[in-house]
Amino acid sequence: MAVRIIGTGSSLPGNIVDNRALSRFVDTSDEWIRERTGIGERHISTGETVVSLSAEACERALENAGRDAGEVELLLVATCSPERNIPCAACQVQSRIGAGKAVAFDLNAACSGFLFALHTACAYVEAGMYANALVAGGEVLSKLVDWTDRGTCILFGDGAGAVYVEKADRGGILGYVQHSDGARGNVLTCDTRGLKNPYADFSLETAYIQMDGREVFSFAMRTVPAGILEVLEKTRIPKEDIDLFLLHQANQRIIDGIARRLNVDPGRFPSNVSRVGNMSSASIPVLLDELNRKGALKEGMKLALSGFGAGLTYGACVMEW
Ligand code: COA
Repeated sequence: MAVRIIGTGSSLPGNIVDNRALSRFVDTSDEWIRERTGIGERHISTGETVVSLSAEACERALENAGRDAGEVELLLVATCSPERNIPCAACQVQSRIGAGKAVAFDLNAACSGFLFALHTACAYVEAGMYANALVAGGEVLSKLVDWTDRGTCILFGDGAGAVYVEKADRGGILGYVQHSDGARGNVLTCDTRGLKNPYADFSLETAYIQMDGREVFSFAMRTVPAGILEVLEKTRIPKEDIDLFLLHQANQRIIDGIARRLNVDPGRFPSNVSRVGNMSSASIPVLLDELNRKGALKEGMKLALSGFGAGLTYGACVMEW
């Protein structure tokens, strides 16, 4: 049995912040940011939340699929920047969109989160436990970013994307792989509030994203091609048969470098990072939705999706559209 994406949706905050605007409060320039990352602008929340963005993305995915929220059986939200510890974002989205029948929970694998959630939904549907799933990736990273740290605040953006999947007779997701390397997790972190109770006080200053950019860069360059080749081998699909490679949109230099390492025409690596920056778990589903809505995804096309990020985590899947 196959699991197929039937609809896609996305939602971005209305506030667009370009590099020049950032250079008013950190020592940076449009030229530096574009050259090192390919990013020109990003959407930054002025009140939109992981829940409001994810709910809108989910509603659009359902509309695109021609399905009703009441039919949804599983609702997963991948996020590393929820507004609340409890209840989870997925339960709040469930309530907003009226998916009363769905079981709903969150999944955090940072920038690999959407793919890991999609694979989780696939496993549930393949196992026969649920007939369909809504899978969203939503982030408001702007609240985790130190806006005085020019090394990180230039990279990230806010937004959400979602897909609706159903069991199908053919095509759909053909195979997936995922990996975690917790031993090297310290290169990209964001702490929570720390421990403070009547017996201990390890409370922390407000915690922000900390990153060793060069380590993360080399991690991506090593693991993303390896993950893609692994899933291609597993599914016995040659890379020449892949029409489009949809990577986590962290940095244009990483995307171009991976295309070179795989020896694949960079034209087969669509990108929106220049307009939206790195939206962690929202990156891949937003890109997928943009391509879907402009008619760039034709039935029968083969797509390779690949995510990587904090954890460290990485994964890939191959699907027939
Ligand atoms: N504007 C201007 N200068 C900046 C800057 C900015 N926004 N950010 C850093 N710099 C400076 C540094 O202070 C450093 O100055 P110095 O040489 O005087 O010390 C210099 O630029 C080089 O810094 P470095 O961090 O070594 O740059 P880099 O070439 O590694 O590029 C990143 C930095 C973050 C763009 C790059 O490492 C990267 O893209 N890494 C991957 C990050 C990522 O994708 N993370 C998320 C993964 S999910």
